[in-house]
Amino acid sequence: MGGDIPPPVDQLAAVSLTSDEASSSTVQKARFSDRVRIQSILGRPDGGAGLAGQKVRISGWVKTGREQGKGAFAFLEVNDGSCPANLQVMVDASVSDLSKLIATGTCVTVDGCLKLPPEGKGTKQKIELSVVEVVDVGTVDPGTYPIPKTKLTLERLREFLHLRARTNSISAIARIRHALAIATHTFFDEEGFLYVQTPIITTSDCEGAGEMFQVTTLISTTEKLERELIENPPPTEADVEAARVVVKERGEAVAELKAAKASKEAILASVAELNDAKANLAATEARSRLKPGLPKVDGKIDYSQDFFGRQAFLTVSGQLQVETYACGLSDVYTFGPTFRAENSHTSRHLAEFWMVEPELAFADLEDDMNCAEAYVKYMCKWLLEKRYDDMELMAKNFDKGCIDRLKLVASTPFGRLTYTEAIKILEEAVAKGKKFDNDVEWGIDLASEHERYLTEVVFQKPLIVYNYPKGIKAFYMRLNDDGKTVAAMDVLVPKVGELIGGSQREERIDVIMERLEEIGLPVEPYEWYLDLRRYGTAKHSGFGLGFERMVLFATGMDNIRDVIPFPRYPGRADL
Ligand code: 4AD
Ligand code: MG
Repeated sequence: MGGDIPPPVDQLAAVSLTSDEASSSTVQKARFSDRVRIQSILGRPDGGAGLAGQKVRISGWVKTGREQGKGAFAFLEVNDGSCPANLQVMVDASVSDLSKLIATGTCVTVDGCLKLPPEGKGTKQKIELSVVEVVDVGTVDPGTYPIPKTKLTLERLREFLHLRARTNSISAIARIRHALAIATHTFFDEEGFLYVQTPIITTSDCEGAGEMFQVTTLISTTEKLERELIENPPPTEADVEAARVVVKERGEAVAELKAAKASKEAILASVAELNDAKANLAATEARSRLKPGLPKVDGKIDYSQDFFGRQAFLTVSGQLQVETYACGLSDVYTFGPTFRAENSHTSRHLAEFWMVEPELAFADLEDDMNCAEAYVKYMCKWLLEKRYDDMELMAKNFDKGCIDRLKLVASTPFGRLTYTEAIKILEEAVAKGKKFDNDVEWGIDLASEHERYLTEVVFQKPLIVYNYPKGIKAFYMRLNDDGKTVAAMDVLVPKVGELIGGSQREERIDVIMERLEEIGLPVEPYEWYLDLRRYGTAKHSGFGLGFERMVLFATGMDNIRDVIPFPRYPGRADL
């Protein structure tokens, strides 16, 4: 083994692979590190073969390691997260203590020479690295490392959120998630939408469903006060009375000095003492009023004493706020975390999830549906173009059909039907013997089983259902002329069910006021929202895409808890 000593890393070739990658024989170094990304070796169309003879430094974590030739050398499969493929790395026993390198999870930085693998070994590798120097090692005790070489179930991996990014599946999902986020920003930027950051802490409930997490410092300040009152009991009534007596005496002393025409200095000194006594009395009285427990007025919690001087929550949707920018900047979108305190234990719900919410000014429900369809198609095409390698991994490990599904969705028009038509189809299915857990009749909120039946069995493609009964939808949706339905639309997709919920917004002030009253929502918290209708009201529409549901749909994963880095759901908020 052995070979040339590699040149200093700053002399490693660092050229872009954008021209003709296959024929380029120089390797691209990471710009902010002295190593070469494994992706820039293995991600080339030639699988890296054209780089044979190049000297490189690579870093990564050992997926599998084995000693061979009776300990004469070791093969390591190293992955640095830049692509799903591992680089095969060969280390001679003369270069390093092999036993420290081979445990799964070990971190290595090595310098070496890229070589074509010996022919006829049936290997898939187009290139491997022959190590000249082991630069750095982060060792692992295989006895305690929780992510062994043998596959753990996804459920078990959720116990190790801090380590699971090292697995093939979770890292592929992370790259797919990233690609979908970039696709989102690129799509809306290309279409002329402005990215607006809406607040995470809010004082209005967008969906009116009361599923909000409260944001408060009242509990911690109350606990702090209770501890403090135990250590340092509040003044008694006698203490307050004593402080009052001091004020009275000092007041009299000032009066006496004035009457005696004492010097200015003497009077000022006496007044200062009086002021001190008054301040002490005020502080003693205030402390004597302190009580353990949450502050209350008329038996109700006094939120005027809370951090914001009123009740505040984590947002369930940025829609209402983003509408304010749409009604001024026309086309906008927000993309951020949203929170719902619904006690759902399903594989489609999280307590913290990300939502992409475009808001289109001067657009009606049909424009809204066209935008939603174009956006979903754009993301599917983007993944096929940019992350085919990771999609192949998902197809191999989780869902054979995921690549075909992306292709189908990217190229086929979505089905569109009204809610009333959807109910008719479901009723017909029931009449023919199809069993659902939830009854079907006009007016019901479609259950996940209904949505999936429509998109997976009946249409076998994405579907947009629109014009829902007003009784099951939010107050801001535009009332249709029939007086019974609103201009709402949901995009339903195979595997997931509801991916998008949106609507044309009610722009008529009188109608929206009536809707608020009908639903029994108070007007006061929505006054600012109503102002958008009072002053220069505009036809506008928008929707919200559940970002994790999109990742589920794209990857074919079964559980939403595996497609967000740090899942939060009832009973769990690790890290
Ligand atoms: O249908 P939803 O509730 O719509 C809204 O919040 C609107 N304000 C959006 C808008 O018009 N700007 O939620 C939108 C999407 C759903 O279709 C679903 O994909 C996702 O958000 N979603 C969830 N995803 C994961 N976990 C949950 N608990 C979710 N609740 C909704
Ligand atoms: Mg919805």
